[in-house]
Amino acid sequence: MTRSIDDAGSDTPHLVLVGLMGAGKTTVGYQCAKRLSRPFVDTDDLVQTAAGMTVAELFALSGEGRFRAMEREAVGDACASPVPAVIACGGGAVLHADNRRQLKRSGFVVWLQAPPEVLAVRVGRGADRAERPLLAGGPVTTLERLAAARASAYEAVADAVVDTGDRSVPEVVDAVLEEYGS
Ligand code: S3P
Repeated sequence: MTRSIDDAGSDTPHLVLVGLMGAGKTTVGYQCAKRLSRPFVDTDDLVQTAAGMTVAELFALSGEGRFRAMEREAVGDACASPVPAVIACGGGAVLHADNRRQLKRSGFVVWLQAPPEVLAVRVGRGADRAERPLLAGGPVTTLERLAAARASAYEAVADAVVDTGDRSVPEVVDAVLEEYGS
């Protein structure tokens, strides 16, 4: 672990997962939290609770700008956790410089990567895709575009990169925890 002081003064950084939709942030984050006996926080869940509606409904009703503003508050709230937590960030949370700063300052940030075709298969399953308004136009093309547009933001915030492409969830969890130093 290379980071030191989080917002709440603890010397243990949060474990933060970033990456595109379908990278496995929520699934892997939840398992990491269980292994570390830490609270698990998902910024999309915080937004949904605050908004009283799903992310898809919020996009449809108030637009992406409102969602991003609420996402910034969610990132701030998650980083302010007084105990070290595992934080799964929505795929676009890294776009705002304030979010990148907060996450880097209070967490050890792991970028979960996979090729767009793999991500598209994962998010194409069942209700997952309907819950992700940005994918309405077609997952593979959109994910390829987002991967190119966001690579520099993920790179800027990441302390470590873990490839999830052909690994099982337990293997990814092991790799993330090893990077984190646990
Ligand atoms: C988004 C990713 C989603 C969610 C919203 C926007 C993005 O989260 O925050 O639909 O911009 O990449 P997941 O990455 O958890 O699917």
